[in-house]
Amino acid sequence: MNLSEIYKPIKKDLERVEVEFKRQLSSEDEFIAEINGHLIGTSGKRIRPALVLLSAKMVNGRLVTKEIINLAAAIELIHTATLIHDDIIDESDLRRKKKTLNSKWGNDISVLVGDYLYSKAFSLLSGLDDHRVLCSLSVTTNGMCEGELFQLHRRYKMNITMDEYLEIIRKKTASLMASCCECGAFMGKADKRGVKLLKDFGMNFGMAFQIVDDCLDIIGDERRLGKSIGSDASKGKLTLPLIYLKNSLPNKEWKRLQEMFSSSNGTNISVIKEAAKKYKAIDYCIEKVKGYVSAAEENLMRLEDSPERKSLIELVHYSVNRKS
Ligand code: IPE
Ligand code: IPE
Ligand code: MG
Ligand code: MG
Repeated sequence: MNLSEIYKPIKKDLERVEVEFKRQLSSEDEFIAEINGHLIGTSGKRIRPALVLLSAKMVNGRLVTKEIINLAAAIELIHTATLIHDDIIDESDLRRKKKTLNSKWGNDISVLVGDYLYSKAFSLLSGLDDHRVLCSLSVTTNGMCEGELFQLHRRYKMNITMDEYLEIIRKKTASLMASCCECGAFMGKADKRGVKLLKDFGMNFGMAFQIVDDCLDIIGDERRLGKSIGSDASKGKLTLPLIYLKNSLPNKEWKRLQEMFSSSNGTNISVIKEAAKKYKAIDYCIEKVKGYVSAAEENLMRLEDSPERKSLIELVHYSVNRKS
């Protein structure tokens, strides 16, 4: 299934989210409007708003209130803010098939635009009745910052453990996806069991999603993905395929590969790519991904069948098999 087929049960709702997202980014100031125009002019996969909408619809008999639309728009604002900040840290040039904010307007302006989006998101969230939503998203965004900080602190440290890696991706990526589903379930007035199952689903999905993303950073195609790749290795971030290589390569070969780190030279990523192929690092990661995908499916199977549940399952499959 492609994304538009998967999003069919929420097509109209996603359009409403787009309207709200754009409304949040409109500005009378010419300069701010220009930057926001750049952001509006590109669109990601909108996975997080889709998770909110599908979770809410799955449990509440399909009524999508304006509050749910605002929640979905706010989460996409948070996600966009994290991407802007991430691109500054990674010194990336390309995002969503366009130039990054940092490459167009520089780091100082981009930091502030990221902050501005965060603040827009929380203003929007403050209008929601259910305080559990604000609670979940505050805890999650705190954790996202901690995850990013921890990852930065562990940069170029070759002794990072698998558990540390898993903790980083849980905090920086999976927890937001978990919050999308949890908050969608809150807004859909799910019972405790439903909230927990959807939250666990989002967490498992998020883990699988980031491991795939970390593989794509090595074997993906920059043009198809629409974002800069190779930055994990060149910025000294040891992701799962790289940790696996460190543990599997003969010492001498690992030493040689390590020299490829901390350089963004295109040929270096091809050396890492070759080693990943030779030592089946991606196959190893795919096995891990399968574990999280099964766990995510099991979470959903314990909830009632519906078109939204089917879409959530298909969204997981689409995401882990994606090339773009
Ligand atoms: C990118 O997320 C950041 C990660 C968590 C890996 P997406 O791949 O969902 O980015 P967009 O929103 O589609 O651009
Ligand atoms: C995900 O990490 C970043 C966030 C959760 C903000 P990456 O650094 O792998 O994301 P991409 O690959 O640049 O999208
Ligand atoms: Mg990045
Ligand atoms: Mg990545």
